[in-house]
Amino acid sequence: MFDYTLLGIILLGTFTKLFSSILTCSEGWNLHGSKCYKLDPEMRNFTNSKKFCENLNAEMIMPKTAEENSILSEIGKWFWIGLMDHDKTIALDWTWNDGSKLESKDRWSNGEPNNNDSPEECVISGPNGWADVPCTGIKTTACQTKPDIIADEDESVTLTCDVKYKENITKLFWTRSTDDTSLIVSEYAKGGNIILPSLVFEHVKWTDEGLYKCHVIFISGLTLTDETNLFINATNMLPCTCEYRRKLEYWGFKIIPNRTREELLQELKSELQKIKKELKVNKRQLSSSIRKRTSATDRRKSSKTMGLAGTAVICIVVGLVILIDLLSLVKFVKSTITFWNFKKIRQKAKDKKSKMRKKFDINKKKTQTSESSA
Ligand SMILES: *[C@@H]1O[C@H](CO)[C@@H](O)[C@H](O)[C@H]1NC(C)=O
Ligand SMILES: *[C@@H]1O[C@H](CO)[C@@H](O)[C@H](O)[C@H]1NC(C)=O
Ligand SMILES: *[C@@H]1O[C@H](CO)[C@@H](O)[C@H](O)[C@H]1NC(C)=O
Ligand SMILES: *[C@@H]1O[C@H](CO)[C@@H](O)[C@H](O)[C@H]1NC(C)=O
Repeated sequence: MFDYTLLGIILLGTFTKLFSSILTCSEGWNLHGSKCYKLDPEMRNFTNSKKFCENLNAEMIMPKTAEENSILSEIGKWFWIGLMDHDKTIALDWTWNDGSKLESKDRWSNGEPNNNDSPEECVISGPNGWADVPCTGIKTTACQTKPDIIADEDESVTLTCDVKYKENITKLFWTRSTDDTSLIVSEYAKGGNIILPSLVFEHVKWTDEGLYKCHVIFISGLTLTDETNLFINATNMLPCTCEYRRKLEYWGFKIIPNRTREELLQELKSELQKIKKELKVNKRQLSSSIRKRTSATDRRKSSKTMGLAGTAVICIVVGLVILIDLLSLVKFVKSTITFWNFKKIRQKAKDKKSKMRKKFDINKKKTQTSESSA
């Protein structure tokens, strides 16, 4: 069996130098270059092999670069690749599973493609390159997927938007989801539009953590998405999953290190009270909307009733979010205080140490003097 671990380490090394953020794969997947791969030894025909990958939320391998191909040929096995000749009447109309056309022809083995067992519309990759074969044959499966990104805070991170087509795009936007919330990413990052599809964080923050989706809408109405998980390695902050995260982050920025606990609470008092008030109001609205909705006799035919139902749902969500936020806020304040107190304590301890050392030195000198005089 091919030694994935060693190659993974070598490639990971190269990558950590290129981008300081780290790419990782889920368990059972191996990182090579900028993709995660999984080899499955079971023999399947092309269709079932493709399905196998799709069921894993991945795609059949599409080795488009020389580097990717050299990694795959080293594995020393024959397996399907996501390349097909959809129309034999157009000679060699090779198309990748993602819809793009085959550009480089230098990966074919000698004498391939030859359409020997016509129709040979599928492609396998092996130690010496590619060969066209009938799609009904059985081979092993290799799947590929995008790796997750782990970045340290304040690092520069770029999330790429890899979609099948580049033409006829009418709209392109990114969303970030954390748990059940999803919002359109518009601030704190550059790009993420038709002109610059990649989303660029110049100084990524712990609040930027989440599942990112690039949504691409085409003239035809077709929508494609590309997902990337971004994890932030935040050392001092608690992970938080709420709508108030940005507010907390803002406060985190503003908190002056030498503030006491009382001063800090005093500063945040008005904000805390505001949130509490909002929570109360929302609770009241929530119960009245639910009452109205449940007492409505018609089957939500009128838009008014639909509106009420919507309000109820929004209120429930907002209420929950605020409740969770309140808890997180308290945690956050506590942790911040603890952090700064810890710093202070450490400083104090340092001061004490240096004082003790001075004392000790003085005592030592004294003893030496008394000894020499004795
Ligand atoms: C692959 O095998 C399945 C049955 O397992 C069959 O239904 C399907 O038609 C086959 N596809 C090809 C391209 O041979
Ligand atoms: C883009 O649109 C033009 C005209 O609407 C069409 O001819 C072309 O095939 C489209 N390209 C893609 C990749 O869909
Ligand atoms: C996360 O940060 C800690 C402390 O700075 C470090 O030891 C660890 O290697 C980092 N992990 C990653 C994946 O960057
Ligand atoms: C302590 O805080 C005050 C403002 O509250 C600031 O002017 C001062 O520079 C701070 N001192 C240190 C050592 O951070």
